[in-house]
Amino acid sequence: MKIREGSVEIEALSTYEKGPGKISSGFYNRTMQTSRDLTVSLLNAMKPGLALDSMAGTGIRGLRIAKETRWKVVLNDISKKNVRMQEENAKANSVDVEIMNDDYFCAVSSRKWDYIDVDPFGSPSGLVDAAIMNLKNNGIIGVTMTDTANLEGRSINKGRRIYGSASVQGVYSKEISTRIFTKFLIERGAALDRGGRPLMALRDGHFIRVFVSFRKGSGAAEAALNDLKTVDVAGKKVGPLYLGRLYDPELLKRMESFPFSDETKRIFSNFRNEDLMFLFFMNSKNGMEVKKMKIVEELQKRGHSAGGTNFHPKGIKSNIDEEGYRNILNSL
Ligand SMILES: C[S@@+](CC[C@H](N)C(=O)[O-])C[C@H]1O[C@@H](n2cnc3c(N)ncnc32)[C@H](O)[C@@H]1O
Repeated sequence: MKIREGSVEIEALSTYEKGPGKISSGFYNRTMQTSRDLTVSLLNAMKPGLALDSMAGTGIRGLRIAKETRWKVVLNDISKKNVRMQEENAKANSVDVEIMNDDYFCAVSSRKWDYIDVDPFGSPSGLVDAAIMNLKNNGIIGVTMTDTANLEGRSINKGRRIYGSASVQGVYSKEISTRIFTKFLIERGAALDRGGRPLMALRDGHFIRVFVSFRKGSGAAEAALNDLKTVDVAGKKVGPLYLGRLYDPELLKRMESFPFSDETKRIFSNFRNEDLMFLFFMNSKNGMEVKKMKIVEELQKRGHSAGGTNFHPKGIKSNIDEEGYRNILNSL
């Protein structure tokens, strides 16, 4: 079947419109379009270099990078069937890419990269070190994790074992899981003498996706650890997690003009709010909900920055303190 996304039209053997979908060759997942839109627009906003789409599936992500940016792209997948599909899709879209049919570890270690995309089914925990080690200085990784239940659901004990941090369930779980996963990437970088700096993070649907750039050197690695902390959330010790900026504001500005899909545009518009505070305020007063937009407008009228968050549909991010927020909420 033919699928159109961004500027490419590809052939896929099966598609999925919502959720994680199933593991099969030639599989296209519509739920991941936002992740791909943001990958392409982030690379488009950076100085072009050499990118590896290390687990490329149908090839849609790498083909979009090659067509919509000035990066040179290599696609790789362990499945022969997928690689054949990538070759056909590249030809049909007149895109010039190199295609490899190798195991992930062979592909990433075959040269040094400016960008490595790591997009496995499930946890990427065993894949991250190889990607970081094979980046050029200041190279970037974009990593997806779909085992969100390990940091947000019933299996958070397993998450502690895999990602090395205590998480919590409840309203804040999506922001906390994203910050723990970001911490995990920075920690792996530090173990390999690289300082990780997050560029952008996405918590959407069934997955988390984080982009981090890594600078070589023990000084950079040490400095990156300064933002990893353990905190108290509703009486529980949570972390260690990453408490610094999740978004690079200059990069977001350069990405603004990208022709995003409507859904990605909605998600992207919240990115500028996410670093206004750690966690967020809720829109309820004495058990009653107040319209989110009404609160946001009032905060802005009084000179504060404010807006929605992708971490909770009823959450509000603002640079006001807790007491100030309560006063404003009570005045409405
Ligand atoms: C989630 S899919 C990738 C989806 C794709 N990046 C996209 O945006 O549509 C994961 C892919 O990893 C491939 N894969 C699994 N194990 C691998 C390995 N050890 N080395 C390389 N590719 C592998 C699978 O064949 C599958 O195509």
